[in-house]
Amino acid sequence: MTDSCGRFITFEGGEGTGKSTQVKMLSAWLEQRQIANLTTKEPGGTPVGLELRQMLVCGDKDKFDAVAEALLYYADRRIHLTSKIWPALKQGKWVLSDRFADSTMAYQYYGYNKRVPRQTLTELYHIAVGDFKPDLTILLDLDPEVGLERSLAKASKMAVKETRHESRGLEFHHNLRNGFLEMAQAEPERFVVLDANKSIEQLHEDIVQTISCRFGIK
Ligand code: TMP
Repeated sequence: MTDSCGRFITFEGGEGTGKSTQVKMLSAWLEQRQIANLTTKEPGGTPVGLELRQMLVCGDKDKFDAVAEALLYYADRRIHLTSKIWPALKQGKWVLSDRFADSTMAYQYYGYNKRVPRQTLTELYHIAVGDFKPDLTILLDLDPEVGLERSLAKASKMAVKETRHESRGLEFHHNLRNGFLEMAQAEPERFVVLDANKSIEQLHEDIVQTISCRFGIK
């Protein structure tokens, strides 16, 4: 998948950073400018992906290991790419995804959280995704203590508790944050890091400014 004319924008970050709200707000902003776009998420951007999501984000954190997790996240991603992301980009739509492959590197990578070796994840990336990558990745950075509190408060109001990763403890989430920041430093041309402690409206303004500058949209 090389000749896309749409743009692929991913939102990344730890728990409770407000990604899904910002994805919706950016989608509305693009609509106002007659830019056709599609919002989606990982895991669970497709019907099969929703079944995988249930397995991945609910239940005991140790019900399977990180290698199994990485394989399932990549199965979800491959289905997502082939049935939704790539066809939409080919039609010229922008695709805004709440999480993509950087989440696997942050949550399942050996170096950041002593889980799966980096090389294994890089190989899985090439098998499932090839040379394709996001045009822009917006990393919403937040102190994990604040993010976890927000995320657990939201989960307490939901019938299905999607808290499998939230239950990994604060150290895991600090490693995760550092992992994301390291990735952003390593690829500054793809990543933009924004402070997710700002109000929803301020953060939206920052995102809109980034998009305007990067892609020349008024
Ligand atoms: P969220 O959609 O509410 O952020 O939930 C998805 C959960 O799955 C979240 O805890 C992050 C985790 N995750 C991974 O561990 N690896 C991945 O590759 C992805 C996409 C998500």
